[in-house]
Amino acid sequence: MIYSIATRVQSLAPPILTPHAAAAAFRQFERLACTYGQGSAARRTVGRRRYCTQSKCLPIAAGAACCLLGAPASRRHARRGMLRSPEWMSAVRHHASAPHGSGGSVVDLRSDTVTKPSEAMLKAMSAAEVGDDVLGDDPTVKELEAQVAAMFGKEAAVFVPSGTMGNLVSVMAHTWERGSEYIVGDRSHIYIWEQGGGAQFGGAHPRAVPNLDDGTLPLDRVRAAIRGDDAHFPVSKLICIEDTHNMCGGRVLPIEYLDDIGALAREHGLAVHLDGARIWNALAASGVDGIRRTQNVDSLSVCLSKGLGAPVGSVVTGSAEFIRRCRRLRKGLGGGMRQSGVLAAAGLYALECNYPLIDVDHANAKRLAEGLSALRGLSVDMASVQSNVIMVDLLEGAPCQAPSLQNAVDAHGIRCIALSDSRIRLVTHIDIDAAGIEQAIAVFSEVLQ
Ligand SMILES: Cc1ncc(COP(=O)(O)O)c(C=O)c1O
Repeated sequence: MIYSIATRVQSLAPPILTPHAAAAAFRQFERLACTYGQGSAARRTVGRRRYCTQSKCLPIAAGAACCLLGAPASRRHARRGMLRSPEWMSAVRHHASAPHGSGGSVVDLRSDTVTKPSEAMLKAMSAAEVGDDVLGDDPTVKELEAQVAAMFGKEAAVFVPSGTMGNLVSVMAHTWERGSEYIVGDRSHIYIWEQGGGAQFGGAHPRAVPNLDDGTLPLDRVRAAIRGDDAHFPVSKLICIEDTHNMCGGRVLPIEYLDDIGALAREHGLAVHLDGARIWNALAASGVDGIRRTQNVDSLSVCLSKGLGAPVGSVVTGSAEFIRRCRRLRKGLGGGMRQSGVLAAAGLYALECNYPLIDVDHANAKRLAEGLSALRGLSVDMASVQSNVIMVDLLEGAPCQAPSLQNAVDAHGIRCIALSDSRIRLVTHIDIDAAGIEQAIAVFSEVLQ
């Protein structure tokens, strides 16, 4: 959507704006609008996927883009009340060079976890009303928990320090009885990257099922992995899924699949937990709202510190009884936080101001994937680029292996991660702008010459 807006903005001021510049300006504007209290279009739609109609946001975008680039049209939009005072406009200009945006220096595409809080987010954090959350009276934490629960149509939620802890308390709460087992994808974050916490801390047994390339677990393999009533076996209690799926290249799970896995779980009396570290990307990419998208899962853990650009924090949401158990586990695992409203405020700010901009990250990912796939020795499966993750494969005959390529581009300020000798992962996020994407493509092109 952002690109169609950007293109229309361009048509309003053709001599000045490229779509990239307009998109960047639009993004910049939205952040500033939140800072200066002009972001009502964005605010009105928190909790909804699409954040404003084109008719509302087009003049805003145009005004912002023109204002940032010093175009005369800014006055016209200012008169329409989109941009109010001269002070405000000069503040916009002043902040146009502030973070976010990668412009010119290091372009860090290792992960969407590397983002730095913007000034506006820090301001929201320092202004947060706080209490003692372990004692249950931090109003900002409560507000965040209520907002996330409402977005996904669940009864309750609990704020936890990390995605790893969110998944851990969820797995432990679902596998409360000794001798329980959880079915999990062999490429999932829970299975690979979280120290086997369900087993290590929870005493639950993981049963891995191979992930397909689209991030799903084949239903027949899941069905076959569910244990029968036999004293030799652990008791199957839970199926864990991931959306978007990180190691499968940020793939968005098909909605029909979410329905099917839910039905399978119910048929066998199992619960479903969703690792929704990047659920925001899944919502943006699919256009399906949080309630519909997670109606078949019993619980989910969502991260504020990935695509949303907050510095820390995750939220687990599910039934009231499940969350009561998670809250107890959180305390036992050392995750009880006191004046954590300061952190929750970053999450609330991110939901309001950064979430609506996720489409830009997806557009940037597509542009980066296209640029890299055109280079000698590299290949990207464009169909797999569905959100903000790009997996780049090195073809036979590529001039070097992935770790050397990673080091070579790093020397020119482009950061990425080699996952193997032949695969590199890049992730777009709120601190990467269109200029950073072009810079990355240019550097890859240069080192592959
Ligand atoms: C899919 C997924 N789940 C969970 C996590 C864990 O989040 P955290 O780093 O906050 O523990 C990550 C981290 O990158 C992730 O990619």
